Amino acid sequence: MCGIIAYIGNKKASNLLLDGLKKLEYRGYDSAGLAVHDGQKINTIKASGRIINLADKLSKNPLKGNMGIAHTRWATHGQANIKNAHPHSDCSGQIWLVHNGIIENYQKLKQFLVKKGHFFSSQTDTEIIAHLIEEFYNENLLTAVRKALSLIKGTYGLVVIHSLEPKRLIAARMGSPLLLGVGAKEVFVCSDAAAILPFTRDVIYLEDGEIAEIYNNKINIFNANYRKIKKEPETIKWDINEAEKDGFKHFMEKEIFEQPKSIANTLRGRINTKEYKANLGGFIEIKNELSQLKYLVLIGCGTAHCAARIGEYMIEELACLPTRAEYASEFRYRANVLLKNTAVLAISQSGETADTLAAIRQAKEKGLLTLGVVNVVGSTIAREVNAGIYTHSGPEIAVASTKAFTSQLIALALIALFLGEKKLSIKQRRLIVKELESMPQKIKETLKISRQVKKIAKKYCKYKNFAFLGRKFNCPIAQEGAIKLKEVSYIHAEGFPSGEMKHGPIAMIDKNFPSIFIMPQTSVYDKDLSNAEEIKARGGKVIAIASRSDRRTRKVADDVVYIPKTLEFLTPILSVVPLQLLAYYIAIYKKRNVDKPRNLAKSVTVE
Ligand code: F6R
Repeated sequence: MCGIIAYIGNKKASNLLLDGLKKLEYRGYDSAGLAVHDGQKINTIKASGRIINLADKLSKNPLKGNMGIAHTRWATHGQANIKNAHPHSDCSGQIWLVHNGIIENYQKLKQFLVKKGHFFSSQTDTEIIAHLIEEFYNENLLTAVRKALSLIKGTYGLVVIHSLEPKRLIAARMGSPLLLGVGAKEVFVCSDAAAILPFTRDVIYLEDGEIAEIYNNKINIFNANYRKIKKEPETIKWDINEAEKDGFKHFMEKEIFEQPKSIANTLRGRINTKEYKANLGGFIEIKNELSQLKYLVLIGCGTAHCAARIGEYMIEELACLPTRAEYASEFRYRANVLLKNTAVLAISQSGETADTLAAIRQAKEKGLLTLGVVNVVGSTIAREVNAGIYTHSGPEIAVASTKAFTSQLIALALIALFLGEKKLSIKQRRLIVKELESMPQKIKETLKISRQVKKIAKKYCKYKNFAFLGRKFNCPIAQEGAIKLKEVSYIHAEGFPSGEMKHGPIAMIDKNFPSIFIMPQTSVYDKDLSNAEEIKARGGKVIAIASRSDRRTRKVADDVVYIPKTLEFLTPILSVVPLQLLAYYIAIYKKRNVDKPRNLAKSVTVE
């Protein structure tokens, strides 16, 4: 999320910063800005939208100076407009900074700062850092930054400059990547090596808790205990095209492997581990209306619709609230019968999907409460719903949705817990909260099966048809597995409830039509196993996604991929990962354009 680049040396900073931003644009393009020290004071330029808008402004108003900071934004707190564009400043306009990450306690810190007389010009969490530094500044920027950071909870990759210190630049990292690029008499700081590779390959990666001070061509690095440490630069060997993909071949692969981090971002600050509740700030103001709900309709398209179908099971199970999942494009044909005390919740990565937006507008016309689970901050759906929560999974570039989907499932699990708070016992809630907390780690463990899935992909990539089968919480995962395979490999695939096979589709099964069973150990496992036997008995090949402790599946299936155990309602978050990998590797073997499959677009803005 977002991109940072900073420069200190003897070249003209603004050109280098702009070049760097162009390389980082894939990380976000809601707004961009830079601040450059001209030796006397700091001058800034910001623009909303793409970097080209910033370049245009800069060409009309060039900035002098050899030290500066720059940022391209992917909005999290505050709308995607020029006011919220980085760099941000304190009240005096002397301190300027760029920040990646999320400050969890920013509301509390903002109240504290407002009481002290600070005034704020943006809606961002970032701006509080500038004011905190101002509060502690006493002619030493490094000390002031350190004191400010000691009060902050959350994540940051941060670069700060001060107009009174034209030769000093401070960088700090906690949970958001930051590295120093070391050149001849110049130093770059950036969130992603892509931005600096044309200038230097010698880099120092900052670790969490470390602060770097670049002053008069010297780099001083301090650890979390504020002890000075020595770090030698290492040389980057890979090339620029790989850089923005963090060394992965495709964005789809990168985004699959990013899921431990993206779901941790969805969870951040949202689970109360003392009272075992979900903290959903976006729903607080409508808590009363939510407690009176009689019916909930979840809508979405494609992968987001699969998330809606899983949400349907989750909310009914945890909150006992009658819930229905609907294709957003079909919603209008059934909307007339919806009664008061119904809410319509839209699930969308982009927040711009035309069918989903149209459904939300129709629900509003009918006077229904509208809610959203959206990834892109400030998108149309996010703005138009009455209340909602962001998934914070970061920009998803590959057309096939992967990390946005698992974040949607986490968000829906949190909503189920929120709505079910009064119905669930404290023991049940404790179990759920503990398990939610462990999900980033469990996805990480699940990803270890990637090599095995690659082998399975090689074995099966020449088949022309696939069936995906699952039950209850994993029935929609069968549908999602089929969507993933179809869209990136162009192979025909269908997702069915496993119990439905014998009512028709089983007629298609023969040795050339493999079935993929999503059958972790849950309350429906025995039924899944019987269905897999039925396929085997008809000469069909079976690939199974099963729980690690399972010993029986292997006797039926030709290939088994094992995933960690978790609570039944959370199993889809893990069981989808091997299916994402399978689709990805089959597409690679078939030499498809994985990130941009034919006939598709990332955001479908037509009905
Ligand atoms: C499939 C995929 C699509 C989207 C659908 C909705 O991998 O990406 O099916 O899920 O077009 O898009 P959003 O979530 O942006 O509303």
